[in-house]
Amino acid sequence: MSKYSIFLSLDNFVYVMKWDATENLQKWKIVDFRGKPIKIRQSMHQIGITEKYLVLIDTSFAIGIEQMINNFPFPLSLFTKPLRKLLRITPSPENMIYIVPRENLNGSAEVEAHQVEIHREISHFLVDYSHENSDSKITLNTAHICAWDIAQWLRKGDKLAQGNQKIPPELLGIQIGEMDISLMGRHVIDLSEEASVQSSINDNLDEGLTWGAGLYTYNSPNFPGHTPLNKLDKIYWTSLGLWEELTTKFMYDQYLNYEYRTVELNQVIELAEAGIPSCLYRLDAESVTFEDYYKFPPGYIGFSPQFVPRKGGTDSPTDGYIVCVAFTPDRSEIWIFDAAALQEGPVCKLWHEELNFGLTLHTAWLKNISDSGSSSDSGDVTHGLDTWIDNWRLSSFSRQDKETLKSEIDQVCNNP
Ligand SMILES: [Fe+2]
Repeated sequence: MSKYSIFLSLDNFVYVMKWDATENLQKWKIVDFRGKPIKIRQSMHQIGITEKYLVLIDTSFAIGIEQMINNFPFPLSLFTKPLRKLLRITPSPENMIYIVPRENLNGSAEVEAHQVEIHREISHFLVDYSHENSDSKITLNTAHICAWDIAQWLRKGDKLAQGNQKIPPELLGIQIGEMDISLMGRHVIDLSEEASVQSSINDNLDEGLTWGAGLYTYNSPNFPGHTPLNKLDKIYWTSLGLWEELTTKFMYDQYLNYEYRTVELNQVIELAEAGIPSCLYRLDAESVTFEDYYKFPPGYIGFSPQFVPRKGGTDSPTDGYIVCVAFTPDRSEIWIFDAAALQEGPVCKLWHEELNFGLTLHTAWLKNISDSGSSSDSGDVTHGLDTWIDNWRLSSFSRQDKETLKSEIDQVCNNP
């Protein structure tokens, strides 16, 4: 068998693995009602866990070979666009949800998953750990990133949707903009007979808070990695806003015929020209309504929110602080809000001349921090990385850029 036929004969598979933090690693192949392995077309960005079920979603984070095509130098750059089109996996506006009963994760090698479909793209979601009335119900709290190809970034050759101008070079590599407003949702899945879904979507666009709904946080007395909350009450989200510099012709064309459109496409482009600010908002999970919000100033992005409980406070979902990253026109900052009064703006802003970072994503808060004791055993954590950077020939980095990068990595990792 040639290496090509081996490649082509690969079967679809998804395994759930369970590790008890010792030597025991168990795994089960997830199959559909016909006994066929389930197929993930985009990616599985998150896993949800409830008292009775595992929730797997083929999330709208469409990742494939195309993501390896990035800013080729000339003459390879001539092939960038055609290759990008040829290898593209465009996000599906539908979400396939796979639900695995935890009680079935036993001696069998294969486990059948229930399947339900939910409309409008999901990348991030939260599940309630239990349902007060029924063991057969699951509650999903979702951000629907409508017409937002979240796995894309600005690349050389991209043109702005408005005016067909080139993307400013300093923005290459930045998250691409959305082509519709995101919507917040809550979905109760009932597995008691035939799987069904009861959905609530907030389509009240009055305040325009949800352009590019991204990352979330909430108050939890449990540390990260422990049991989720039985029922989510208040969820804090940040949104990217709508930026003319991030709305590309490539995305405009991709979403010309988007079937769940809320804001007409040309209006999106007009709104982007005017600019819509990034937001931090608090959502009441059950009613899917906005309770409080803060709009960042024009030119600012609020990102990576993290709930930090008030010292000596309660488990109330608003008794604490929201710490988030604020990218300002001048620098990276960390802003702290009173979680109960977002509209009053940050109670504290922090920055330092040496605090300068790129895009941040998910966060965690730990009540205590201590040395893991492992660093002295692991040696140079950057082992091999310098060589890789030196040899990465398709990079748009200059020799000097590479030396600077290596020096910065060494400083952070080996001389903290
Ligand atoms: Fe994520």
